[in-house]
Amino acid sequence: MDHNLLLADRTRQINASAIREILKAASRPGTISLAGGVPAPESFPIEIIRKLSNKILDTYGAGALQYDLTEGFPPLCNALSGYLANKGIAAEPDDILITSGSQGALDCIGKILISAGDKVAVEAPTYLGAIQAFNPYEPEYIHLDSDDNGLIPSSLEKAISSHRVKFVYIVPNFQNPTGRTISLERRREIASIITRHDVLLVEDDPYGDLRYQGIPIPAIKTMAAHHVIYITSLSKVFAPGLRIGFCLAPQNIRKWLVIAKQGVDLHTSTFNQALAAEYISGGFLKETLPEIIRIYQPRCKKMIDTLDHYFPDGFHWSRPDGGMFIWVEGPTGFDMQNVYRESLENRVAFVPGKYFYTTRGKGMETMRLNFTMATEEEIDSSIQTISEIIKNRMQIRAA
Ligand SMILES: Cc1ncc(COP(=O)(O)O)c(C=O)c1O
Repeated sequence: MDHNLLLADRTRQINASAIREILKAASRPGTISLAGGVPAPESFPIEIIRKLSNKILDTYGAGALQYDLTEGFPPLCNALSGYLANKGIAAEPDDILITSGSQGALDCIGKILISAGDKVAVEAPTYLGAIQAFNPYEPEYIHLDSDDNGLIPSSLEKAISSHRVKFVYIVPNFQNPTGRTISLERRREIASIITRHDVLLVEDDPYGDLRYQGIPIPAIKTMAAHHVIYITSLSKVFAPGLRIGFCLAPQNIRKWLVIAKQGVDLHTSTFNQALAAEYISGGFLKETLPEIIRIYQPRCKKMIDTLDHYFPDGFHWSRPDGGMFIWVEGPTGFDMQNVYRESLENRVAFVPGKYFYTTRGKGMETMRLNFTMATEEEIDSSIQTISEIIKNRMQIRAA
């Protein structure tokens, strides 16, 4: 039997993630990986989880192992209501929908909102996982421009004025892949634009808590609650393997998200939700976040310093105040794919930036660097390696 003949038309639209292949290559022993977007394993609170696992079984007994509500385990919804209040986001426990990672929310959003040919406006570059979640529903992407201060509001206004945009998708803090953060002034402008044009915005914020310097900037959700679906996750500040994400959507959208989620997985793991509930309500998230920041902050600084030191003229990089990524842009016409191949031969991995664009041929001269997984020594030596490869290629180009 030719199983490929069985595939639905829309399944053929889905590209196997090139990044998965890159991550596979990056995990070869002896390779320094600046490719992933995963938390440092030493940030995981294993001992706390061990103790809380016992406590959960004592407190909830079989309830922690039973089927539960699609909307979310009530003690976790209660805990998250307080967590969101600390960010200035007003949410009753019943407003929250727990999803299997924020990825689960993105999938449900695609499922309930996108008909084939609908226009979805995204930053260029943008988070590849969102594109993968939306693609099966066959949207058309409208590209929004950004600079060091994040999404440029006039680009959003232009896109919305000239297209019937179904929704806008953005990552406001320490964006994946660029590390850029949308400034307060721009958030206010964006809130005003979406309200004026009556357009829905998906604000995907898994990195907001990983701030190493500067002051937190309020979510756009706080400025235009009725027009924003706010999504966030415990993956980057607790443990991604637990798959706990959550979203806050206007009620008329939330009810459809619940129905869509029911069809996907009935509900997110009850045990893991109970763990997350105890972790937050017991004050552990608050207590361990500074420790995670203490691991990442020097790595972020080290990467910026080494780029400043080694990289040649004509290349520019973001200088994030948090998150996990730095974005490098080379001169127009420079091909980062060749640098990637040669770096891999030298046992250093990163992700060529072209994978974060929905238009073929865009971003050839860019790369995404992750700084959370490598030590400071590894960051120094790997950036030096990449820089030497780039300098050689620049010389070849000039010759
Ligand atoms: C912007 C963004 N959104 C969502 C996700 C998905 O995270 P999770 O499903 O683990 O919450 C990621 C993961 O890297 C991400 O970078």
